[in-house]
Amino acid sequence: MTKLWWENEFLRVKNQKLYLGWKQANRVAREFGTPLLVYSRAQILANYERLRDAFSHHTTLETRICYAMKANSHQEILKLLRRKGAWIDAVSPEEVEEALRAGFPGQRILFTGTSVSSEDIRRVFNCDGVIVNIDALEQLELMREIKRKEFREKQIKVSIRWNPRIGRGFNPRVITAGKRAPDGTPIKFGIEEKKLPEAFEKALSYGFILAALHQHLGSGWVKEDYEIIRAAVVRMIHMATQLEKAGFRLEFLDFGGGFGPRYAKNQGLFPLEKYAAHICRQIAEAGLKIKAVAVEPGKYLTADAGVLLLKVEYLKENYGQLFACVNAGTYNCLPRPAIYPEAHHEIVNCSRVHGGRIKPITVAGNLCETGDVFGKEIPLSVPQRGDILAVLHAGAYCRSMASNFNLRKFPKEIFI
Ligand code: LLP
Repeated sequence: MTKLWWENEFLRVKNQKLYLGWKQANRVAREFGTPLLVYSRAQILANYERLRDAFSHHTTLETRICYAMKANSHQEILKLLRRKGAWIDAVSPEEVEEALRAGFPGQRILFTGTSVSSEDIRRVFNCDGVIVNIDALEQLELMREIKRKEFREKQIKVSIRWNPRIGRGFNPRVITAGKRAPDGTPIKFGIEEKKLPEAFEKALSYGFILAALHQHLGSGWVKEDYEIIRAAVVRMIHMATQLEKAGFRLEFLDFGGGFGPRYAKNQGLFPLEKYAAHICRQIAEAGLKIKAVAVEPGKYLTADAGVLLLKVEYLKENYGQLFACVNAGTYNCLPRPAIYPEAHHEIVNCSRVHGGRIKPITVAGNLCETGDVFGKEIPLSVPQRGDILAVLHAGAYCRSMASNFNLRKFPKEIFI
């Protein structure tokens, strides 16, 4: 049988059954109970190495892979990536502290906040070495005040996040650059172009050490997004060149995250190799004097390294529709399909991945909302009571965005 599009280091199909690594998914579910999030170290490492190689094939500059830990901040994942030499993209003081607990040195942590409070700044300034990525001139003023009063002698590195007016994402809510998202929401992130020189000058004159220019355009890019992203890279290089000409020395450029794994069969995969080659070529051609290039992958590293196992409690038929009623809720385990209409997660029956009687089935959770469905009328081998379903690509923005809505519990998490 040819491989299914989602099979990888972690997920395999043998004799119709789903295997997680070398273990049958059904067995894992029986042993640990459901709902259960299962993660694969091997798959995370494979993703990390593929990304690192994509850059190292095209540049001798140091590549800083800053894991966007908001995707999944499990200590095991942080430690695994720390041992590989990764950096961290943290967005709250809590994330910064969690990364320090996982053993990351402050020097390998970038703090990129939004609506940053004085208390946030104090907490982050207290963590030695952390690079603060500035999202607003107004934030810089707050930082100045706190530095002057409480951290006068401290050497603090900063980066400036600009908003390059080009954004891209799988959903309006995750497009993070531009003036407005396609649904009309004004975009709160980054410093606008004309204020950048002022931001750089002030950061220096306030006694901060200037390290980088940063952009993050959005999340979940697919193949069709490439041309836009390519143009945004050109714009970033142009800006960095102007800044160098104006006398600002940058240690690195940070291109943010956004490149997605493939979540659905009909999605084209974002051409990562081409993207890395383009960035490296642009830097070389511009003759920038930077030391390193940074990216901030979240979902690329962890999404396809996790699955959620659920048990079917019963099959309900209503007005001619079939529901597989499962023992967990989206909001508590895997909220993406409930939050974003565009978010797709493949669902398979662990006992009969290919065959059986296929019908359109809605996989319904145990929360009191109509939107609490993991998949709507998806073609699925008709499950029986007690069957285990696997929801794929559950490694990123699932547990980390989960709540205990309806007072339901979070799923257990294990590593294979
Ligand atoms: N860097 C910054 C500054 C970010 O804000 C983000 C994500 C990333 C990096 C990582 O983006 P990634 O490589 O994972 O696309 N909840 C949404 C995703 C929101 C991402 C927000 N920022 C989802 O479930 O798809």
